[in-house]
Amino acid sequence: MTVSRPTAPDAAADEETLAELEALAVDFAEAAARLIRDERPGDLGAQSKTSRTDVVTVMDTRSEEFLRDRILTARPRDGLLGEEGSASPSQTGLTWVIDPIDGTTNYLYGMPLYAVSVAVVVGNPSEPGWRPVVGAVCSPGMGVTWSARTRGGARSAAIGGGTPREVAVGGATELAQGLVGTGFGYQAAVRAEQAAVLTTVLPRVRDIRRLGSAAVDLCLVGDGRLDAYYESGLKPWDLAAGWLIVTEAGGVVSGPGGADPDVTLTVAGNRMVHDQLRELVDP
Ligand code: IPD
Repeated sequence: MTVSRPTAPDAAADEETLAELEALAVDFAEAAARLIRDERPGDLGAQSKTSRTDVVTVMDTRSEEFLRDRILTARPRDGLLGEEGSASPSQTGLTWVIDPIDGTTNYLYGMPLYAVSVAVVVGNPSEPGWRPVVGAVCSPGMGVTWSARTRGGARSAAIGGGTPREVAVGGATELAQGLVGTGFGYQAAVRAEQAAVLTTVLPRVRDIRRLGSAAVDLCLVGDGRLDAYYESGLKPWDLAAGWLIVTEAGGVVSGPGGADPDVTLTVAGNRMVHDQLRELVDP
């Protein structure tokens, strides 16, 4: 596929370019998802990363290398930021933000809820102020790819070119009847704080789901299958694609004090449920 190369951040606003970037993101995410599903070795070579509970497998590394090759071949002047260490500056104002396996613990344990997340963002994703303009999340275990582009809506499709279906956030009006996703970090002290917040939230919602992939959680909010989601500690690669999928599905995603989501907080849902959840988790 020939892709026009924007020379400035404003070029990302071009509809045709965004559509081409979305198609590329879907293609890359699905190809990496097939790789991690089909070439999973008997020994995943799991090693600890930021703590004893935070693991990286050989397939996280292989998937990131695969994505890096595909992205830099197709878009050599764009930047790249990946969970497993990829970092190259952008000459176009656009940066690809990738999570080669989001839900590594599920992957390690043979649980189906893991995904490859590929986003294109405007701005530097290592500093405040960046924004996703394209996102694709492929979950091989669920057989689905979600994708979105700025002003172009959000959709889901069966992996490998299924007919896309537009997705929209659910219509819940009361958090008390909402099914709410969340997740936990890998540091014991952070988890203790997250557990304290959970004791406030759990009695006030229909139920909680800890599915194990922030990218999938956000897509399920965009798809109306979770009413809301919150988590502290997410990195750009966990949330970039899912953030756009929620907002293009008509939802709201915010961070501390109602600003953009960041490492301290991400809250997502339709406007009403999002606002009610915010009051609990970001008082
Ligand atoms: C993790 C997952 C998990 C979330 C953690 C993330 P990883 O990503 O998204 O659901 O709770 O905060 O770090 O480590 O599997 O790529």
